[in-house]
Amino acid sequence: MEGKMINIYLYTRYERFWHWLQMAFIMILLVTGFEVHGLFKLLGFQTAVKIHNTVGLTWLIAFAFFVFWMFTTGEWKQYIPTTKKMISVVMYYIWGIFRGESHPFPKRKEAKHNPLQRLVYLSLAAFLLPFQMITGFLYWGYNSWSAWGLEFLSLKWLGIIHMFGAINILTFIVVHVYMTTTGHSLFAHIKAMITGWEGVEEGVKIEEWEKAHK
Ligand code: HEM
Repeated sequence: MEGKMINIYLYTRYERFWHWLQMAFIMILLVTGFEVHGLFKLLGFQTAVKIHNTVGLTWLIAFAFFVFWMFTTGEWKQYIPTTKKMISVVMYYIWGIFRGESHPFPKRKEAKHNPLQRLVYLSLAAFLLPFQMITGFLYWGYNSWSAWGLEFLSLKWLGIIHMFGAINILTFIVVHVYMTTTGHSLFAHIKAMITGWEGVEEGVKIEEWEKAHK
């Protein structure tokens, strides 16, 4: 680390609330979903199905509010992908981090996510999560398939691809949790997502980059 550390207010109350709510929903959906699949016995099949369906539908509604908030606040701009500095960010996580080097892309209010995060979060929010919601909703609506004109769908295949989505979400969580430990201290990033405040290095010039991506 080189520069002086300063504290900046990075995550609003709504963002933090949304983050932890979403985490709770997804954890419940993973556990109950894997039980429905028969991987273990915890709540009993019927209860697991009930909880899975209720939380799944609640999550769909909550997500719609989040998307609305993203577009009305302009926060969606934080997810525009960019390849600038991508290589140096990847190299940092493979190599530099273990040598105590500074992060090549310090966080700022206007650019909370580094290029790698932008790509991963965009894929998650725009593809993987909606994919899981749509396949889950179709699964839930199985009895209405003929009324919806969807008889051509296969329940077996829907189950397989919904499971495939679940494994991808689980993989994301494992990597994501590891990444949370890579801040300037073990729990710095987690603390920031609880309090909103994060310590960042002062004086690194990325303002030009920020301007170009506003
Ligand atoms: C993080 C999100 C989610 C995860 C990780 C997840 C995971 C799973 C898994 C692993 C299964 C078992 C698949 C199988 O073996 O066939 C399952 C089944 C199911 N999921 Fe999800 N799911 C998610 C979201 C949703 C949503 C949003 C809904 C919409 C209501 C939903 C509805 C269902 C239904 C109806 C079943 C079948 C239950 C049954 O067999 O009666 N899921 N889910």
